Amino acid sequence: MHRIEGYVIVSADGMIADALGVMPASIRNDADQAFFQAGLDAAAVVVHGRHSHEGGPRAARRKRLVVSRQIAATAPDPAHPNSLLWNPTGTTLEEAVKQLGAGDGVIAIIGGTEVFSMFLPLYDSFHLSRAANAKIPGGRPVFNEVGPTATPEDVLMRHGLKAGPRRDLDAAAAVSLVTWER
Ligand SMILES: NC(=O)c1ccc[n+]([C@@H]2O[C@H](COP(=O)([O-])OP(=O)(O)OC[C@H]3O[C@@H](n4cnc5c(N)ncnc54)[C@H](OP(=O)(O)O)[C@@H]3O)[C@@H](O)[C@H]2O)c1
Repeated sequence: MHRIEGYVIVSADGMIADALGVMPASIRNDADQAFFQAGLDAAAVVVHGRHSHEGGPRAARRKRLVVSRQIAATAPDPAHPNSLLWNPTGTTLEEAVKQLGAGDGVIAIIGGTEVFSMFLPLYDSFHLSRAANAKIPGGRPVFNEVGPTATPEDVLMRHGLKAGPRRDLDAAAAVSLVTWER
């Protein structure tokens, strides 16, 4: 049995990276990183696109699926231990997780935009952190549907999730967290 949980930190305007696909320092925060890394330590599998590896000293221990169109279904990932490259059009998530040899538990979805969007119908929880002092005009949104008339919260609501309480992760830096649940 698996739960599907998303993790992200966005700017005030709902962005995860700048126009070049680089995550700026203005949305990096130590308290958020601690929350994120602890969540990934507890997960059975981490799933991300080819440019969204979380890094950090414990990353190599985590079982992961790296989403890519460069393979037909699944293939060993020469770049990372404990990983499989996975093309969702070629194999189901369940089959890819089975091939990875992962047990029950949380499947943590960590981006980028296309991967976050693909899982919108499936999230059991979505951990939405926000760096309220940062803006990234012209940046890459957390979901494809985010834009001038739709915030990340609008999109989560549209896909059937409900907001939990807001929690300050780092009040001085105006970084807060809301976990959305289905
Ligand atoms: N603020 C945050 O919390 C947060 C979270 C995540 C990422 N980021 C940042 O966002 C930036 C990267 O975002 P990104 O959207 O460019 O990268 P990404 O999703 O990590 O990588 C894009 C690549 O993933 C593969 N991919 C994505 N969707 C796919 C699909 N549906 N099917 C098959 N393959 C798929 C493709 O790889 P192939 O080219 O191999 O086909 C694509 O080129 C980085 O700067 C990262 O640090 C920030």
